[in-house]
Amino acid sequence: MIYHDVIVIGAGLAGMRAAIEASKSADVGIISKVYPTRSHSGAAQGGINAVLHPGDTFDSHIFDTVKGSDYLGDQNAIEVLCKEAPENIYEIEHMGAIFSRTDDGKIAQRELGGASFPRACFFGDLTGHTLLHLLYEQLLKSNVKIYNEWFVTKLIKENGRCTGAICYNIQKGNFELLKAKAIVLATGGYGRAFARTTNAHINTGDGMALAYEIGAPLADMEFVQFHPTTLFGTNILVSEGVRGEGGYLKNNKGERFMERYVPSKMELAPRDVVSRCIQIEVREGRGFENEYVHLDVTHFGEAKVNEKIPQVKELARKFAGVDIVKEQMPVQPAQHYSMGGIRTNIWGETNIKGLFAVGECACVSVHGANRLGGNSLLETVVYGRRIGRKVAEYIASAEFQKISESHLKDEEKRIKKLIDRKGKESNSVIRKELSEILTFKVGVFRVGNEIEEALNEIKKLQDRAERVSIQDKELVYNTQLTSVLEMEFLLTLSEIIALGALNRKESRGAHYRNDYPERDDAKWLKHTIVTKKDDSIKISYEDVSITKYQPQKRVY
Ligand code: FUM
Repeated sequence: MIYHDVIVIGAGLAGMRAAIEASKSADVGIISKVYPTRSHSGAAQGGINAVLHPGDTFDSHIFDTVKGSDYLGDQNAIEVLCKEAPENIYEIEHMGAIFSRTDDGKIAQRELGGASFPRACFFGDLTGHTLLHLLYEQLLKSNVKIYNEWFVTKLIKENGRCTGAICYNIQKGNFELLKAKAIVLATGGYGRAFARTTNAHINTGDGMALAYEIGAPLADMEFVQFHPTTLFGTNILVSEGVRGEGGYLKNNKGERFMERYVPSKMELAPRDVVSRCIQIEVREGRGFENEYVHLDVTHFGEAKVNEKIPQVKELARKFAGVDIVKEQMPVQPAQHYSMGGIRTNIWGETNIKGLFAVGECACVSVHGANRLGGNSLLETVVYGRRIGRKVAEYIASAEFQKISESHLKDEEKRIKKLIDRKGKESNSVIRKELSEILTFKVGVFRVGNEIEEALNEIKKLQDRAERVSIQDKELVYNTQLTSVLEMEFLLTLSEIIALGALNRKESRGAHYRNDYPERDDAKWLKHTIVTKKDDSIKISYEDVSITKYQPQKRVY
């Protein structure tokens, strides 16, 4: 058995930031199913928000975020996010973060969607990538023990406390029981539930599903962000920073169509709004090949492209065969981010003692029904540091609990049964079908009867999943096994997403119901809370924290 005061599961930005902070006074282990620098935080391009300029204000950042969230974001949590942002930016700058600069050497900031001030600090379009490497260096400098390529198959709860986890050591092919006073989940989103997604293959909602299994509530899972500009064909992210730098969205008539929908913000309306506008253009025949619109930066000139959006230039060339200096990019909306997740308070605590969550897998609800660009990287550092401190404080007075060795044997038996199973179903076929159901029936525009169909189809897939067989019988690097376990996570979460979407009979933020096109505060200004009870999904509700900003009509 392996012991640590704190075990962090997930080594993206939120997990690493929490681990580094906690390790200042605690013995910390961090587990990652991939090498940490392959974590999906590295894909974030556009920037990280903070009020740094004297002309900007906390009130403005808070209000933009509340309004962007369509009033579902918890205002106490948003206040923490915005007010702690500047000190966190300067802290990571002093750790060595490289940021693009103004001519007088200050941190440069660009405008992203839904912001009323240019407040996203950035490094070209490689912001997430540089921060991921920065925190990995800090992690190596710390005394955190890193478990690379370990896959968590189960969390252990005994006497109401989370006391440990079972891990599959992918490299060695064995299973380990890990014991901790506290577990921090930082496993990111579930984007691979969708066929069209910007997310990496590792984004399979592991932490959310594992926490749900042991009774932690999930909140607002129906709120799924669709990023408006992803490369047609592969759905690789094309940063909002491209529009922040002045890129135009154009339809097949060459019109900057955002003028018709949101003339005040144009291409920099929030993501939920821009995604819907693109879908409408395509649906009404003003797209290309009935699939996409164009993103045009041909007016930038090569020097600006190379300086501000070099990664997008390379990605468009390699994956769409387009030279963006001279040609327009084909873009369409795709799943990008999970606003919902494991319900926590502003200290990352869940309803289970010893279990904390942070980052995209958590729902402290700073994003509500729709996240603004630049606020997710911010959440990882602000809440990562905060939860790191909280968990260190928690373990100082917590004892190691007894943990039964039988958990390990039981889990080994379960996995052996899975590997020995003789079924005719294929994991990859089920995952493909599932992802198409979510994309086409629980997507940008939703309607009751289609969501019901999706739910029925997901349940059938859950049945079929019981008959999936694994051809690889060895345990060393059994990626078929991990993919089947990920499929199980995705099936669990997909049902919850669809059920939440069917249940919420209104339109708010990224959740748009054609059959209920208005926001309905009287009935639905509340968080959806989903808990596992007696093997079924129980829905309840929780009030939204409103400190200063009363809900108003959300117009841009
Ligand atoms: O558009 C982007 O660069 C994405 C950034 C984000 O998700 O915050």
